[in-house]
Amino acid sequence: MKANVTAHRDYTIAKIDERVYSAFLEHLGRAIYSGIYEPGHPTADKNGMRGDVAQLVRDLKIPYVRYPGGNFVSAYNWEDGVGPKDQRPTRLDLAWHTADANQVGIHEFQDWCDLVGTKPMLAINLGSRGLDEARNFVEYTNGPTGSYWGDLRKKNGRAEPFDCRVWCLGNEMDGPWQVGHKTADEYGRLANETAKTLRAFDKSLELIVCGSSHSDMKTYPEWERIVLEHTYDSVDHISLHMYFANRTGHTQNYLSLNHKLDRYISTVESTINLVKANKRSQRDVTISFDEWNVWYHSNEQDRAILAGNEGWPHAPRLLEDIYNFEDVLQVGLILNTFIRKSNVVKMACIAQLVNVIAPIMTEPGGAAWRQTIYYPYYFASVFGRGTALNLSVKSPGYDAEHDDNVPYIDISGVHDEEGGTATFFAVNRHPTDALTMELSLQGFGDRATVIDHQVMTHTNLRATNTLTAPDTVVPRKGSGTVVSDGTLTASLPPHSWQMIRVKLS
Ligand code: AHR
Repeated sequence: MKANVTAHRDYTIAKIDERVYSAFLEHLGRAIYSGIYEPGHPTADKNGMRGDVAQLVRDLKIPYVRYPGGNFVSAYNWEDGVGPKDQRPTRLDLAWHTADANQVGIHEFQDWCDLVGTKPMLAINLGSRGLDEARNFVEYTNGPTGSYWGDLRKKNGRAEPFDCRVWCLGNEMDGPWQVGHKTADEYGRLANETAKTLRAFDKSLELIVCGSSHSDMKTYPEWERIVLEHTYDSVDHISLHMYFANRTGHTQNYLSLNHKLDRYISTVESTINLVKANKRSQRDVTISFDEWNVWYHSNEQDRAILAGNEGWPHAPRLLEDIYNFEDVLQVGLILNTFIRKSNVVKMACIAQLVNVIAPIMTEPGGAAWRQTIYYPYYFASVFGRGTALNLSVKSPGYDAEHDDNVPYIDISGVHDEEGGTATFFAVNRHPTDALTMELSLQGFGDRATVIDHQVMTHTNLRATNTLTAPDTVVPRKGSGTVVSDGTLTASLPPHSWQMIRVKLS
């Protein structure tokens, strides 16, 4: 089987906003406690942050980490997480039916961000709380000393403002499961008033309003239209969430899900443009896809934990999906979609980062390891920076649940002009046949050489990485990939993910 792809330096989509490689950490299960934070762990620093986890996170070069929730944030009091640790209250978390002793709050989280080389993207509680607490939180993190909240921050150990630039106005407010769930009109008004107030404090803050929790929500896409009618002039981004699952065991349908993702993004892009036109606005609002990942492997286990759970446990093993090789393909397809939609998707967060539906797993007191999905995320984040190429793709395809004629090859291309490289991320969806890819690079001049080819493939789609076998699914160097007369030829094994990088003349 053959696929033909053409890349040209002048056929581009947009400069990729590197923030599409961001991530998410919630006070949920073991994401924070025994995830990033475990005083007494052999690798912990003086703040109790795990050094082994910090290194795995640092390697990912994550621009922003969204915090502290998620569903958790909709009943969260940020004040509980500041001040002397031994005086912080233990609260019951209504979203996940657990208890939280608030040993990590904004100070500890910012220190951790500095440790791993990332920045916080903070979510405000617009579920059980509202405008006033939001305003106090922003003044606490960003306000000057000499004011009430700035002085309290100084008393708690930090005179300099944190200067957090990016704020989420609530979380999944369209979801009936959310504490303080609202209609689109109720939420739209509250979000707009909150945005106006935060802008009165600092008009340069970047604000994200809640869009849909999923494109299967009954309220989608009217939710986006109504919320944007209220907030268009006061926010910068609208957030979307989507989780991916293979509940039927039908791999080919599963691998077509990113076509549904593509339509979701396009529909919201059109909705943004509709509201923009209605308002005769010159402003652009873009998309923050601030929760995405595969999430289904742990559903049964979580149901059992939550059903048998009479009390309020601290940091139980919730949402601990163990990812397999098939999920590598899915994550590669999702990231390709974000690259191809880089004209409108300006931020995206893999959900989540450690232990909870995460690329990194830990054992309390023990090791940390990379799940299978760590790798496509790692390569996209490190090498997928530059301008997204508008590739022409000719490939045979198949009919699936989420689209007809889904091409066997799914590919994205990134041109890094400064570094003089082009990087291609490709998935071969074919279950049994290798694809011979001919990729024309003539639009980049007459000389290009292959500098890297990483391949992920496995004979068992269900193969996983575990504590005792952490390297079952790992990338390997590809071979036989050459450029001749401006055409790159590569053989893509069946059901495989790869990254091919070329140095341009
Ligand atoms: O990431 C897990 C949960 O998924 C988040 O708390 C919530 O926002 C979403 O429903």
